[in-house]
Amino acid sequence: MSLINLVKIQLLGDERGQLISLESQKNVPFEIKRTYCIFANENNSSRGFHAHKKLEQLLVCVTGSCKIILDNGVVRESIVLDCASKGLLINNHTWREMHDFSKDCVLLVLASEHYDENDYIRNYQEFLEGASK
Ligand code: TYD
Repeated sequence: MSLINLVKIQLLGDERGQLISLESQKNVPFEIKRTYCIFANENNSSRGFHAHKKLEQLLVCVTGSCKIILDNGVVRESIVLDCASKGLLINNHTWREMHDFSKDCVLLVLASEHYDENDYIRNYQEFLEGASK
C-alpha cells in the first residue's frame, strides 16, 4: 500500500486568478482544528523530521513546489507537490520530511488537532520502535 494518498482539489479559477476551497468532511476527511502555512523559505532549509501520535494532516502547495518524504518504518516514498489541485493526506504514525522548497513556495497545512508538542515523535529511532510494535 502506497503512503502517497492524494486528494484531488478542484481549481475554481477564472480570468481573475485561482481559488481552492477546503471543507471538513467534504474534500478534507477530518474536522479541521488548525491551519498553518510554511512560506518565505530561505537557505534551502528542510523541515519536518517527525511523526505524530494522533494528528492527521492535509498538505497543499498553493504556490511554488516542495518535496515531501513519507516513511512508515518499512517503506519510504517521496512526492513533489507543485500544484494547488493536489492535496497530500498524511496519517498519524507517518514520519515526514519536507525538502527542496522553492523560494516562492506557500505550503498550506490543515490539521485535525490543535498544536500539541506531546503529540510529536521527533526521534527517528523512537518512531521505528513504535512502528514495529
Ligand atoms: P516546527 O515543528 O519546527 O515546524 P516543522 O514541522 O515545519 O519543522 O515548528 C516551528 C515552531 O513553530 C516551533 O516553535 C513550534 C511552532 N508551531 C506552533 O506554535 N504551532 C504550530 O501549529 C506549528 C506547526 C508549529
